Amino acid sequence: MPVPTSVDRPALADLPSRAAARRVALARSARRPTEPPALGLDALTAIALGLARAEGLWRPHVSHDPLSRTSVRLVATDAYEVWLLGWTDGQRVELHDHGGANAAFVVLDGELEEITLGFAGTTTKRLAAGGLGTVPAGVIHDVVNTRPAVATSLHVYSNPLRSMTYYDPEGTATYTELVEEVPALLTGATQARALHPARLAP
Ligand SMILES: [Fe+2]
Repeated sequence: MPVPTSVDRPALADLPSRAAARRVALARSARRPTEPPALGLDALTAIALGLARAEGLWRPHVSHDPLSRTSVRLVATDAYEVWLLGWTDGQRVELHDHGGANAAFVVLDGELEEITLGFAGTTTKRLAAGGLGTVPAGVIHDVVNTRPAVATSLHVYSNPLRSMTYYDPEGTATYTELVEEVPALLTGATQARALHPARLAP
């Protein structure tokens, strides 16, 4: 992934990691006018759970780095994309939104906490392996690995993630990053399998 262009942002960056994002002016829009309507949470959940079952597709790409959360773009389509993330103890995203994209994610290994910021403050949900999180567009949340063991998770976005805005604990936006498009790892026939996870053998 390319080297980030920003140098004054907090050290804990995330998805898809600061190595795949660029800081931009807060007011800048990343949405493409020709993009199709975003898939709903049910569809994203089905994709995430289907891919989670297809361990042979993602397991070879799992990695963990105590210096930085890892991320790889597994699948890219016009309608959605899939990222695979690796977390070590203490790694997190910071409070952020998804720039108008819906999202669903599933924990594959280990355990993660999802912190969601709402009008009444934050709520925390602990997700063990197999646990699912859904994030409607506009929701502000954080994900963190608070356990001493590594964690792995798979994240589906629709429309494909183009920007992320970060927030302080009071919910004030602090900065926005554009997510740089990088090639997906699963292509050709392999991607065709990924696009139809329901066909995969259990
Ligand atoms: Fe997120």
